[in-house]
Amino acid sequence: MTQVEQEHLPSGTTSTLRNTYKIMADHYKMYEDLFGEYGDTARLTALNGDIVATRNTEYIKEIFAHNPMDYDPFAADVTEPLTGKGSLFLIQGEKHKRERRLVMPCFQGRQMRAYGELMHNVALQRLKQDTNKNGILNTYDSMNELSMEVIIRAIFGIDDESRIEEVRVALKSIMDALHPAFLFNKSLQRSFMGLGPWAKFQRHMAVGEGLIYGEINAKREQGYGDDILSLLLQAEDEDGYKFSDQTIRDHLFTLLAAGHETTAIAMTWAMYHIHKNPEVLARLKEEVDEAFAQDMPLDQIAKLPYLTGVWKETIRIYPIVPDVLRTLLEPMDLGPYRVGKGKVVSVAISAVHHDPEIYDEPEKFKPERFIEKSYKPWEYMPFGGGHRRCVGAAFAGYEMSIVLATWIHEADFELLDTEVKPKRRNLTIAPNTPVKVRVSTRK
Ligand code: HEM
Repeated sequence: MTQVEQEHLPSGTTSTLRNTYKIMADHYKMYEDLFGEYGDTARLTALNGDIVATRNTEYIKEIFAHNPMDYDPFAADVTEPLTGKGSLFLIQGEKHKRERRLVMPCFQGRQMRAYGELMHNVALQRLKQDTNKNGILNTYDSMNELSMEVIIRAIFGIDDESRIEEVRVALKSIMDALHPAFLFNKSLQRSFMGLGPWAKFQRHMAVGEGLIYGEINAKREQGYGDDILSLLLQAEDEDGYKFSDQTIRDHLFTLLAAGHETTAIAMTWAMYHIHKNPEVLARLKEEVDEAFAQDMPLDQIAKLPYLTGVWKETIRIYPIVPDVLRTLLEPMDLGPYRVGKGKVVSVAISAVHHDPEIYDEPEKFKPERFIEKSYKPWEYMPFGGGHRRCVGAAFAGYEMSIVLATWIHEADFELLDTEVKPKRRNLTIAPNTPVKVRVSTRK
């Protein structure tokens, strides 16, 4: 029997160009329409794959629990020019398992405590520095700078001010030079006699890599700190396996790619929702002000229940990554369906996060739902799930809590962009405006 005969796929849409267009134009709505028309599990062909997508939580549970060795990462090679071949995004099977086991401990909850003070100080400084003389702040730009600085300090472990500036400029030039044209079309990854976007990207990359290798050498010579680069340099598994410098470079650029924009977008959305909903703002202010008044340590502030509900609800209502996908190396059964090798399974995060059976009034911003109920990993999954669940989830949660608490305690904000909607931004979904606010300092 052939592969095709063995398959039993759900019904769906094979209008590849139309589907690809809908994914690019409005990813959330694409899933809403798809499941509205074909039911909870549906087929969807797009330019980058033949996909079986689901919002059925039983199937999602199975997808996350499934044998990781049967999966290849989905279309992850678009990130290769930045993250390198050794990135967690690109590796698979035993190699992924081994590398991830060494990276994970660097991001465990207790490790975060070392970064609280740093996140608080960067938040205070950015608020001051990025508010212009008319009291106006562009939230997205400020959060973007802020999360970049946190990565440079906490992950790359750089604390010398002039070095921070040098690395910030280099990394920003790399990120700005990343061009969708060559990311999605490998034939454009050519120098064209030193001209064009690829050549420009390569020049910036050479500067950035030089700085990163310099930091690696400096740490080896001058001693290790609390930062994640130091932990990666010392990591070793029971077989004596250690990261090469090249692999460390790839992991650092992966952490930058995965952790910078995502966290900035989440904090920008949070500021929008908090100030769009006066009752949320009032309750949050009360909780946070009381904590600072009592001199509560930052690692306890990071766990305040309503504050935690605010960031969780922020990435429930508009998940920054709308779905996670896995390419099948072996056929997979999902309920009555049999999905063949080479096909892709997709967990439609945005659709589950808006299922009224799981979330009452799903269109409403209600942080208290996370105090009243705890959700299963297949009901709430802004960080994906299973063997590839986001390694930076605890770090991102900690940063969101500390930064939001700091800003809300420090100042009052008036929303100037009052109607903000989700919009695609490269591989993520972000606000369609910079979320401008008027700032007045409270003390
Ligand atoms: C609000 C912020 C963030 C969101 C919403 C987010 C979301 C995600 C999602 C959905 C995935 C894919 C998971 C899957 O395939 O099941 C992922 C993977 C990943 N994230 Fe995050 N992330 C965030 C912040 C961070 C931060 C701060 C870091 C590190 C500093 C980070 C590092 C990673 C890495 C390395 C992976 C790849 C894991 C693997 O393939 O094994 N992320 N993230």
